[in-house]
Amino acid sequence: MNEILELDRISLTYHTPSGEIPAIGSISFSVENGEFIAIIGPSGCGKTSILSIVAGLLKPSGGEVRINGKKVVKPDGSIGYMLQKDELFPWLTIEQNVRLPLEIKGLKGTEYSEKVRSLLKKYGLWEFRGSYPSELSGGMRQRAALIRTLSSSPDLLLLDEPFSALDFQTRISVCDDVYEIIKKEKKTAVLVTHDITEAISVADRIVVLTKRPSKILNIHDIDTDKTLSPLKRRENKDFSAWFERLWRELNYENK
Ligand SMILES: Nc1ncnc2c1ncn2[C@@H]1O[C@H](COP(=O)(O)OP(=O)(O)O)[C@@H](O)[C@H]1O
Ligand SMILES: [Mg+2]
Repeated sequence: MNEILELDRISLTYHTPSGEIPAIGSISFSVENGEFIAIIGPSGCGKTSILSIVAGLLKPSGGEVRINGKKVVKPDGSIGYMLQKDELFPWLTIEQNVRLPLEIKGLKGTEYSEKVRSLLKKYGLWEFRGSYPSELSGGMRQRAALIRTLSSSPDLLLLDEPFSALDFQTRISVCDDVYEIIKKEKKTAVLVTHDITEAISVADRIVVLTKRPSKILNIHDIDTDKTLSPLKRRENKDFSAWFERLWRELNYENK
């Protein structure tokens, strides 16, 4: 087994002026290198908090996270974090946006410039490198945001509802795009989503959380054909059975 990420009895309580909010009860699971994990659960159950803890941006109240066996204590370059909104800077061109993580880290060598150029070319944004985000479609902006996340070569990608701001059709095709890029670049990904169909169409395994303080309700191995694209997997005969099962878990068994 080649585990890149381990969550070891993570818990979290927020302390606010109006009292304590127990957000995460106790969560443990591991992710293997190259795996695509989806996390689903009721709104407010602590999904974003879990990703922030994995990214080293938030300290858990208990437990620890290990990446490649090493305890996470602060953010570092081995993780790429992509959020719901593309968060590209409107006053920078696409190429400048994509290069930003490298500039911040002071990685200026030609190998890094080459990496950015080849990612832009490979994923259809080369012609738009001099354009500003407002000149691109929502889907292209999300692709640019992913390339920016990839430019500093993280091993592990954390995706927090990255498609939810897009309309339904765009969401499905951008999800296909992003999935293909992540697989081609051989990354490990943890995707948080509230969309059950999205989770089934991309994930090797789905972690289902309870209401807060969240615990793991179930972890499912999704046994659909992994050579198919997410869009094709939606047509697979097992798809609706998985949907029904997860829907039931989220809506009836999640008390
Ligand atoms: N900074 C914060 N201070 C206090 N409470 C918070 C903070 N961030 C999140 N919470 C609370 O913790 C719970 C989990 O939040 P979050 O991780 O954002 O859940 P999810 O992403 O699953 O919707 C929610 O009830 C939310 O209100
Ligand atoms: Mg959230």
